[in-house]
Amino acid sequence: MKYLVTGGAGFIGTNFTRRLAAEADAEIVVLDKLTYAGRRENLADLESSGRIRFFEGDICDPAAAALAMAGADIVVNFAAETHVDRSIDDPSGFVRTDVEGVRVLLEEFRRTAGSLFLQISTDEVYGSVEKGRSREGDPLRPRSPYSASKAGGELLAMSYFTTWGVPVIVTRASNNYGPWQYPEKLIPLFVTNAMEGKDLPLYGDGLNKRDWLFVDDHCSALSAVIGKGRPGSVYNIGSGEEQTNIEVTTSILDLVGADRELIRPVSDRPGHDRRYALDTGLILGELGWRPSVGFREGLARTVKWYEENRAWWEEIKSGRFGEYYRRMYSARLAASGGRD
Ligand code: NAD
Ligand code: DAU
Repeated sequence: MKYLVTGGAGFIGTNFTRRLAAEADAEIVVLDKLTYAGRRENLADLESSGRIRFFEGDICDPAAAALAMAGADIVVNFAAETHVDRSIDDPSGFVRTDVEGVRVLLEEFRRTAGSLFLQISTDEVYGSVEKGRSREGDPLRPRSPYSASKAGGELLAMSYFTTWGVPVIVTRASNNYGPWQYPEKLIPLFVTNAMEGKDLPLYGDGLNKRDWLFVDDHCSALSAVIGKGRPGSVYNIGSGEEQTNIEVTTSILDLVGADRELIRPVSDRPGHDRRYALDTGLILGELGWRPSVGFREGLARTVKWYEENRAWWEEIKSGRFGEYYRRMYSARLAASGGRD
């Protein structure tokens, strides 16, 4: 089976590509633009051993898409701009990659005889869910430029199934965490800041809730969807491990062995979604998938990975990330008596 994995040098794409590479019959091509979030070195061993072929390119570029997709049976589209705060700072790249890039890939896929186009989407498309759990048929109410762009991308993908019978499946996963996550997101930012003895900028009252999914469990769910999912379907993927941000933060500090004084409440993210929660009955019932890593174990494994891979994140944090961090956090930290 020949796979094209787009965005394979990012967080989930790296974990998924490494899992796929363990399957003997998988022929793998990775297409990645290597934005600030893409790290080719994550896959360097697989590339140098010839286990994968790596193309540096943009999913919005039809020529790059055609080259990378040649002969692919299955396309798994992880490529996206993914950080909500950056989408609030400047939505343009989000609309381009997360909507237009999906169209370019779908147009190319429509010309090929591929068996599956898997569009990786997010639980954020449901919007903020104060009570209950979102089901696949619920209305989409995205509230940030990121989630609105992801909703556009997945709706476009499904329109290719409806209009032309293109075999498309959409998955909507909850908040992932684990190895190789870029340190702008809550868990890797707070783990690495705690290791450096820096303040942890907690937004608002810290009571927003997320459903935390260990990345290996997300990848095993995607394998189940690829193996047995029905084209034209949407599958929620979540763990049911709901935690407030303050609970996540104190667990991190305990695991790192850092002082709770590092917690620094700062002004909130505009339009901050209060809660995401998924009903995962469909994937459990239809595909028999269930998560296997609990939050405590997953978080401990994640902290250990960041402890053992300091060079990976220290290089990121010492580069362009510093400028981003100061722009996003300096004033907010200073206003609450903290420092960056
Ligand atoms: P990430 O930001 O770590 O990685 C994104 C990757 O896409 C990077 O390697 C980047 O270089 C690449 N990319 C960006 N624009 C591109 C373009 N125009 N052409 C080619 N490559 C491009 O993201 P992630 O957290 O690994 O998320 C992967 C996918 O999963 C995204 O589609 C995201 O919306 C979705 N998702 C993420 C989460 C989560 O919690 N991280 C949860 C649900 C869904
Ligand atoms: O739910 C799935 C989504 O999860 C994915 O689609 C996105 O790509 C991914 O980025 C993630 O979105 P969130 O906005 O939920 O993740 P983030 O790590 O940015 O924030 C998690 C929570 O932590 C959120 O309530 C905001 C809060 N937060 C975040 C940061 C970066 C803070 O309090 N302080 C911070 O510095």
